[in-house]
Amino acid sequence: MSAVSTATPPAPSLGVSPSQPMIQMAKPMLGEEEKAAIMRVLDSGYIVQGPMVKEFEDKWAAMCGVKHAAAVMNGTVALHLGMLAAGVGPGDEIICPAFTFIASGNAALYCGARPVFVDIDYDSFNIDVNQIEAAITPKTKAIEPVSLYGLPANMPAIAEIAARHGLAIVEDACQAVGATINGRRTGTWGIGAFSLYATKNVTTAEGGVLTTNDDQIDDFIRIARAQGMRTRYYHEMLGYNYRMTDIQGAIGSAQMDKLDELTEQRRRNAAYYDANLRGVETPKVPDGYRHVYHQYTIKLPQGIDRDTARARLLEQGVATDVYYPVPVYRQQIYIEMGYNMSLPVTEDVTARCLSIPVHPALTEEELQRVVAAINGLTA
Ligand SMILES: Cc1ncc(COP(=O)(O)O)c(C=O)c1O
Repeated sequence: MSAVSTATPPAPSLGVSPSQPMIQMAKPMLGEEEKAAIMRVLDSGYIVQGPMVKEFEDKWAAMCGVKHAAAVMNGTVALHLGMLAAGVGPGDEIICPAFTFIASGNAALYCGARPVFVDIDYDSFNIDVNQIEAAITPKTKAIEPVSLYGLPANMPAIAEIAARHGLAIVEDACQAVGATINGRRTGTWGIGAFSLYATKNVTTAEGGVLTTNDDQIDDFIRIARAQGMRTRYYHEMLGYNYRMTDIQGAIGSAQMDKLDELTEQRRRNAAYYDANLRGVETPKVPDGYRHVYHQYTIKLPQGIDRDTARARLLEQGVATDVYYPVPVYRQQIYIEMGYNMSLPVTEDVTARCLSIPVHPALTEEELQRVVAAINGLTA
């Protein structure tokens, strides 16, 4: 084992007991429809990838407006297969942000490729498209934009750069189901990868989806997720067991029927915060973009200690979280690989970002309590 680096700070323990009922950060919106769907699968006796996964995939493809949607075990393996499908291999470079969940960077590592981290744009939290071209080298194979918190990355600009340099696009749309730019959905700009983890806008507990309009890429993904097998026990390439079960497919299919309603509720909650929060920077949404608010993330003013602020909010029963407290290049494994860098906007935002509850189950009274607690930080 290699020596433990001190680069990753320990997660803060806020050590507070709330004086009011807790307003949680997330709540899976599962109901009678999901329960009934699960029971139908259990009663059918067919529980592995089958008709319910297919039904779920068809609904996902229709929602995105893409030709193909392939379900897999989770968003991380969706990114891994997306990279492989884009032809990413040893020695290649992938351009992506470092202000993201670690899986965005790790997907390149799984293929033997190297993530090249580009700074983010302050307002959108997403990759700064003006800095992408300077990071392109002869080894660059793909751009992997992340649509963080549910706001699409600047995909028209990224698509233009990718086309000009002959690069693939693997969209990390894990947090951005249903988000759009001028009506065009995330996951339609190249190969799209989505997550259905328990806290996501729709969930299958664990789950992922890959989207593409390319028949060959879809074919590759479907074979690769099933042990490289088109015909039973004839393995034509190195594959994986990345399949989704029909139990998850059934939950996912029921969730798809609620996606629009759940998204609109998140957007209404966000609009309430936009109108009422004071003293903090609220999310900015460019014209023509539809944010789906997987997270509602504010920036605290300089000079406010985030841990102290979080402890004060917690005392008032308001849970918060920090996505993400450490840029990917400063995670231990990346330090050990030799990454030694600091991107100024990434560092600034990492230190000041704070996500507050925005999930669809929030009541009006809870929204008011969150606003009062946040506004109290700077009053
Ligand atoms: C930006 C981003 N990328 C990748 C992933 C990985 O998805 P999963 O947790 O389903 O493996 C997530 C989910 O947490 C994510 O938020």
